[in-house]
Amino acid sequence: MSSNRWLAASISVAVTLISGCGQPESARDSGARVNEAPPAEARTAVTGARIKAADNKPGEWLTHGRTYDEQRFSPLERITDQNVAELGLAWFVDLDFDRGVEATPLIADGVMYTTGSWSVVYAIDAATGGLLWKHDPQVPRAKLQHLCCDAVNRGVALWGDKVYVGTLDSYLVALDRITGKVAWKVSTIQPGETYAITGAPRIVKGKVLIGNGGSEFGVRGYVTAYDADTGEQAWRFYTVPGNPAEPFESPAMEMAAETWKGGEWWTVGGGGTVWDSMAYDPELDLVYIGVGNGAPWSRRARSTEGGDNLFLSSIVALRPDTGEYVWHYQTTPGDAWDYTATQHMILADIEIDGATRQVLMQAPKNGFFYVLDRATGELLSAENFVQINWATGIDMATGRPIMADDIWYEEPRFTIPGPAGAHNWQPMSYSPLTGLVYIPAQQLPHVYAYDDEYEFTPGFWNTGLEWAMSAAPEDPEELKASASVVNGKLLAWDPRTQQAAWTVDRPLPWGGGVLSTAGNLVFQGMPTGEFLAYSADTGEQLWSFDAQTGVFAGPVSYEIDGEQYVAVSAGWGSIIALIGGEAIASMDMVNRSRVLAFKLGGTTALPPPEDPPERPMPELPDIDTAPELVARGKLVYYDRCNMCHGDGAVSGGVNPDLRYSTKAVHERWDAIVLDGERHALGMAAYRDAISAEDSRAIHAYVVSRARATLSR
Ligand code: HEC
Repeated sequence: MSSNRWLAASISVAVTLISGCGQPESARDSGARVNEAPPAEARTAVTGARIKAADNKPGEWLTHGRTYDEQRFSPLERITDQNVAELGLAWFVDLDFDRGVEATPLIADGVMYTTGSWSVVYAIDAATGGLLWKHDPQVPRAKLQHLCCDAVNRGVALWGDKVYVGTLDSYLVALDRITGKVAWKVSTIQPGETYAITGAPRIVKGKVLIGNGGSEFGVRGYVTAYDADTGEQAWRFYTVPGNPAEPFESPAMEMAAETWKGGEWWTVGGGGTVWDSMAYDPELDLVYIGVGNGAPWSRRARSTEGGDNLFLSSIVALRPDTGEYVWHYQTTPGDAWDYTATQHMILADIEIDGATRQVLMQAPKNGFFYVLDRATGELLSAENFVQINWATGIDMATGRPIMADDIWYEEPRFTIPGPAGAHNWQPMSYSPLTGLVYIPAQQLPHVYAYDDEYEFTPGFWNTGLEWAMSAAPEDPEELKASASVVNGKLLAWDPRTQQAAWTVDRPLPWGGGVLSTAGNLVFQGMPTGEFLAYSADTGEQLWSFDAQTGVFAGPVSYEIDGEQYVAVSAGWGSIIALIGGEAIASMDMVNRSRVLAFKLGGTTALPPPEDPPERPMPELPDIDTAPELVARGKLVYYDRCNMCHGDGAVSGGVNPDLRYSTKAVHERWDAIVLDGERHALGMAAYRDAISAEDSRAIHAYVVSRARATLSR
């Protein structure tokens, strides 16, 4: 960064602020706040040294997990278990788009940098909530087709004088911290590829590290490092091998290729996307990446003769300067269940058997809590943190799971966890004061069944699974019984003993990310809209706030002028809202996306909650709904439509509920479904994925579901 440019930018912003033009509008004009921006010259370069010294300035939150070790622990102690009852809303900002928000805000020099849906970046005065600028990268809405899990983003990175965001259409964008103007922008993919970025970049030694998602659509995973100043690519590490007839990109890929057997996995992607978690140890100079699931999910659809399929579902340690492989630990060899190891990784030094060990901890989707030596990748311990039935334990001699015999679903198999995982992207937190890891855990089973009709369909959802097998029962009594297996938990996990110190049980899964603080507090949001504080050592609930919309993101804490704040992003959306179904729909969650900040004695009130919109009884078309047609329609619906329009054609409130579609929509069914009339709005053309007969069958299924459920 040239200091002259920095100064010039500061002056130009000061001028625009004084002259009044360029004064940004509030995100959606959610209140008459004065945008008293912290003076631009107060914003100083974010460097590796500054991030490493984060504990000397605990009022900031400079990188995704606050520190390179990603502990998500705030040393601030003004808000405590003694006074948290006085915590109140300091400010809120309504975001532009009402759907899933998963971002962890960053705070530097009094400014909050965060993201909303559609990869929009916001700079907000962290003391007042005044909007300083926003940047909308204008992601084409047609991109929805290639998103597994809503138009979400998990946040930005800061370095030097810039803010970095990865967009859903897979650009890495560097913005000027003061003006929000684009400094540079690079595509991280080749034209036409179906990747999407939802994860937050991490910046190590001047290199921006970014992965991507998209396994369901048939892609090959990698993480790329770009020069933070220029955007020039420094290195790329692939996580799964390409075509073995072509040269390997690295010795690591040559090693990995030996674990892929049979089939032409490179034509179906292979998977292994690095879509969320990373961590960095400056002393060991190792970057850790969490690698995702196989693509397609079913192993026999990609590596027909078995094999571990490295580096799927693995934690991989790399050199940040070169991207060189150092070690890996595979949590789920041969993954066929979407058991990603992309979940949050925490680095800590903890005492095990009388010795201080440098560990890496992860609670991936597969339900085991792993403690690894982060210098070598050696497994130190692993125990399941929720009820599971795919493995009976981890063999400590080999480090491999002891899998159940029928786990490869030659026959349909009721399996816990399912693809949503025992823990997903919602960040955990480690308090060095209590020595506990706080895990947003859940129990969500799935019936895995191989789809005998499966064929790879480029650009569409490819799992190789028969999804209708996991449909919620249509009979209300059976539905109730099956729902009783589902739950959520906040676990305070002791990594030394591999046991829960305390547990909060919740009826709903998909609890939000967690923050722990030196005030003996743990904060967590809920899909129901509650934002809660617990005592960190006992788990006693001490405070709650109704955010009026689902809260899933990781909360943060920061300090300005001696005042401690706790902030969190909220917004109904994410997978739970896409999966939908009766239980979720009955919550009647109103979409309202916002950032909320709390302080002791805060008195700001949210506007009264809106009622869910009235939905008139639709006029259903008089089409053929013969039972065989409906049965066929159900099969194809679950294969192709369920992931967006909801279980049993009951939407969770993000995408249209097809049971309520109007007469006009029914009349244009094939134009919408087969021809892609609404392609630009995110509803793709399915002509290449389903036949006209199948479109008719899905229509029959949707109408029969409307008849069965709306008349009740
Ligand atoms: C990737 C997510 C996604 C998938 C998968 C998907 N849709 Fe959609 N669909 C949408 C979105 C978003 C819209 C709303 C478009 C708009 O704004 O009009 C939509 C709209 C529709 C509509 C119009 C509804 C109305 O009342 O306006 C129909 C009908 C429809 N989809 C049918 C289907 C069928 C049938 C399938 C499976 C073959 C399917 N969709 C798969 C995202 C999806």
